[in-house]
Amino acid sequence: MKLIRTENYAEMSVEAGKIIVDKIRSNPSLTLGLATGSTPKGVYNYLIQDHKADGTSYQQMKSVNLDEYIGLKAQDTNSYHYFMRQNLFNHIDINENQTHIPNGAADDLEQECVRYEQLIKELGGVDLQLLGIGQNGHIGFNEPGTPFSSRTHIVTLAENTRIANSRFFNSLEEVPTHAITMGIASILESKEILLLVSGEKKSEALLKFMNGDISEEFPASALKHHQNVTVIADRDALKYI
Ligand code: GLP
Repeated sequence: MKLIRTENYAEMSVEAGKIIVDKIRSNPSLTLGLATGSTPKGVYNYLIQDHKADGTSYQQMKSVNLDEYIGLKAQDTNSYHYFMRQNLFNHIDINENQTHIPNGAADDLEQECVRYEQLIKELGGVDLQLLGIGQNGHIGFNEPGTPFSSRTHIVTLAENTRIANSRFFNSLEEVPTHAITMGIASILESKEILLLVSGEKKSEALLKFMNGDISEEFPASALKHHQNVTVIADRDALKYI
């Protein structure tokens, strides 16, 4: 595992952005695994600025997102569909049919999980997966206790995850209780993984990740089984390391 230490959020975002742009330029038809949350916003901003200034093109690439809330339609401002459009897709040369996000409003959610897993296979797997980490060590929405063998599945969100994410909603009650997420085994099949960690709130999670045991009680620890993981963290997140 490689660790890149950065001073702050902005520097972390630039480091990750440069790695992604390099990959896209050397392999324009790659499949990029994307994440939501506050952490990757700066990276997406870097990609947008680079697209405008240097013309990196996204016309041939495909994207798959990690997860989506259940019960929110794509138009809902709190859906991850909306997040991705607002924070990236609307600002680069990519068509909606190149982008994939689990459908949390599907009639048959079990079938949606099967479809999504199949889709990733048909795309030839994920070349580069961008990841954030929850304070409890979750990746995607794989909460503590999720089997490392899990594929795309429906999850009940942990209370602390709902509380952490309630900052985007009007109230805690509005935060969905369930989500669809790529499983840990699905994530580990990505050829390369970039894990971004920023801020003091993540410092304990990062400490556990770097120094703790590999355990299903701490989902991110599964990444230690992967051969090609780069962690890009800022000084606040690296407080204990
Ligand atoms: C969310 C997302 C994750 C994300 C994590 C951290 O619940 N499902 O993919 O990595 O929580 O979010 P943030 O970057 O906002 O701290």
